[in-house]
Amino acid sequence: MPKFAQRMTTMEKSARVVEKLFKSMTSPETISFGGGAPAKELFPTKILQEISYELFGAPQQGQRMLQYGSPEGERELREVVAQFLLEPKGVCAVPEDIMIVNGGLETMNLICQVFIDPGDVILVESPTFVHCVEIFEMFQAKCVAVESDEQGLCMDDVEQKIRELHPKMVYVIPTFQNPSGKTLPLERRRKLAELGSRYDVLILEDDPYRDLRYSGEELPPIQAFDATGHTVLAGSFSKIFSPGARLGYVHASPAIIAKLYNAKTATNSQTSTLIQLLCAEFFRRGYFPAHLERVIDLYRERRDVMIQCIDRFFPAGTRRTFPDGGLFTWVELPGGINTTELLEQAWSYQVAFMPGEGFFVEGNGKGTNCMRLSFGNVSPENIRVGMERLGRLIADAAQGAN
Ligand SMILES: Cc1ncc(COP(=O)(O)O)c(C=O)c1O
Repeated sequence: MPKFAQRMTTMEKSARVVEKLFKSMTSPETISFGGGAPAKELFPTKILQEISYELFGAPQQGQRMLQYGSPEGERELREVVAQFLLEPKGVCAVPEDIMIVNGGLETMNLICQVFIDPGDVILVESPTFVHCVEIFEMFQAKCVAVESDEQGLCMDDVEQKIRELHPKMVYVIPTFQNPSGKTLPLERRRKLAELGSRYDVLILEDDPYRDLRYSGEELPPIQAFDATGHTVLAGSFSKIFSPGARLGYVHASPAIIAKLYNAKTATNSQTSTLIQLLCAEFFRRGYFPAHLERVIDLYRERRDVMIQCIDRFFPAGTRRTFPDGGLFTWVELPGGINTTELLEQAWSYQVAFMPGEGFFVEGNGKGTNCMRLSFGNVSPENIRVGMERLGRLIADAAQGAN
């Protein structure tokens, strides 16, 4: 066997966690709060059937959908991003500063291609989204955790670590964070944008859950406070349209977009023309507002049921977050229960979750008593059943521990 590239070693640990994440979505008998998949009953299948029928029926459109397109993405979809997704959030955007990518995750890949050399430091939250850590490590970056409190990333520690470690980039999920469900408050958003400008550090703002707000006040993205082009905003259509569509977008300064263009052509040349035009038409025909309302109503109910069940079925001393949106809540169990070990027993109770440990890059035993619970793809009835099972499992494990 020829020798594998060095990068496959650097990413080994995070790759194993991501593998588990995918596996937790696959067993049909198990009620899984593990993966972060959206509810499939929300996918706009009928509307897309109607749109594809019409577009394929118009010969020029049909041919265009099946032809090569441009690396930056179809103009119609970039206009949709500017008009429907960025402008309402306080980001003044033109289609020229937007690139369409193969799912939000491709942005992290392209940004690493453009900015990261082996050994570069990337500051991440604690906990953070392990799938992106996997990407950063593939580029042989060194991920360093920044302290987080109940409101998310702590700005004093960000600044201190910027001064000490001279990172290339700060990676942050400011809204309904994955995995914690927390939202970074306004003042910290402003401060982070300022720090990026002052120390010439890139802020990679990963914001795929921003449109899924069920309670609380709307907040502008970090990029809205950036006057120097140091913040890159990564968005996704996965949670508001379809994850199988593999559509995401990036909004950045013209200089960064120009480099991303080169990285994109060298990687896969473009994102599917077919799905971009279908998605653009979905927005242009005015279907999005009512669709988003349905999405939000359904997830709000699931979030509420999940929170009630934690409070009812989990042991006294359990701590949890209350996410104002997104798909996750984060739980800290009392009594020294190790959630990685707990998951081994969870299969026989036919319930699954994501153990907390894998979301921390520190690797010093942090998060061993934590779990991420995803409520998006489980019906309210199954949330009740699954959470009761999980409560029983935790109680049994606690008894075994005593
Ligand atoms: C924090 C975070 N970033 C990015 C993504 C990207 O998703 P996609 O590549 O499906 O757009 C996800 C999806 O789960 C996520 O949770």
